[in-house]
Amino acid sequence: MELFSSARSLVQMHEPDRPVTCLRPEMANRAATYFKNRFPGKILYAVKANPRLEIIDSIYNSGINHFEIASLSEAELLYGRYPDCRLSYMHPIKSRGSIRNSYFKYGVRDFALDSLDELNKILVSTDYAEDLNLFVRLAVPNDYAEFNLSQKFGAVPSNVGQILSSIRPVSKKIGVCFHVGSQCMSPSSFSSALKIVGEIICSSNLILDIVDVGGGFPSIYPNLAPPPLDDYLQEIRSTKERISVLNKCEIWAEPGRALVAEGASTLVRVDHRKDDHLYINDGTYGSLFDAGFPGFVFPVKPIRKDGKFSASLLSYSFFGPTCDGLDYMKGPFILPEDMKEGDYIEIGQTGAYGCTMRTRFNGFYSDRTVVLTDLPILSMYQNSAYEQQIAGG
Ligand SMILES: Cc1ncc(COP(=O)(O)O)c(C=O)c1O
Repeated sequence: MELFSSARSLVQMHEPDRPVTCLRPEMANRAATYFKNRFPGKILYAVKANPRLEIIDSIYNSGINHFEIASLSEAELLYGRYPDCRLSYMHPIKSRGSIRNSYFKYGVRDFALDSLDELNKILVSTDYAEDLNLFVRLAVPNDYAEFNLSQKFGAVPSNVGQILSSIRPVSKKIGVCFHVGSQCMSPSSFSSALKIVGEIICSSNLILDIVDVGGGFPSIYPNLAPPPLDDYLQEIRSTKERISVLNKCEIWAEPGRALVAEGASTLVRVDHRKDDHLYINDGTYGSLFDAGFPGFVFPVKPIRKDGKFSASLLSYSFFGPTCDGLDYMKGPFILPEDMKEGDYIEIGQTGAYGCTMRTRFNGFYSDRTVVLTDLPILSMYQNSAYEQQIAGG
């Protein structure tokens, strides 16, 4: 893998014709180390957020060897590469073939479900295995999240007791898992969800082995600056201590976005300018899906070979390269007023759900990938308080 000191040095040496994914695996390692040292339980990495092996290796090197998978392909990717790893298949709806193959070929023993039909599928597909750890996915409010996941998955609290009673006799360990929604902007979502779990435990009279608080931990974007991550972990820690039935359970979390957002940026080129619209060579069908309909404003850094830009700034929106009008990123992206064709832009925080969502629509696809050694444009781990926390202080 080619290594550059910055996106600027890449432009100076190569003037790339197509978008380039710029990995910063060290940043994923830094985020993983922060979570590992501070979270009051076990960390699983949600591989879907960024399945690049350089990124996964760097998370693994921080000491995280437990992965949350949502497909058989993710099991295939990890199995064998990390001999001591544990894979937990936490997608609540799976095909029979993927349950069977993940159990028999890839050693998966942890499965999530949100209905008795799915339980039956898991039991039949594993030939009624006796070493399963089963998790009931609970639907919890996703009120403060940018992406709601509870509309699609999860059993309502009033049904969870019955599902838990059904899995108890057929599981080695049982648990409850939930997801407060991705890019969750309020730590209180975690305490509210944990309170619901506490009530379920009390009313069902069952002892849970594991409570999995899922993902949802936010990253930082210019239009979405969350409270400090430590507030989220403190909220989880104090709720667990306050609710005695939770205190007896092992706690897991499955962060995706917060571990890898800073782990990559995307280098694009301006191919055309019309007023305050820049037509760039990557877009919502490429690595910038979240800048489209979800409206994320990514941090941007302009790059020109001679480095000379106007000091006055302007708010721009972007159009991607395809023929589709939906390939539009409203922004505002704040850049020098004299941006023009041939300039480059480093777009930060695309490490989570960025390059992994690229399509080949209209034939626009670039998998050119390099590693950068400088710091990301924006970071939530990069101040002295966080650095102390990363070190476990
Ligand atoms: C089951 C599960 N766990 C973890 C995650 C990771 O969530 P996030 O990237 O918001 O941390 C997701 C995201 O969709 C998920 O579905």
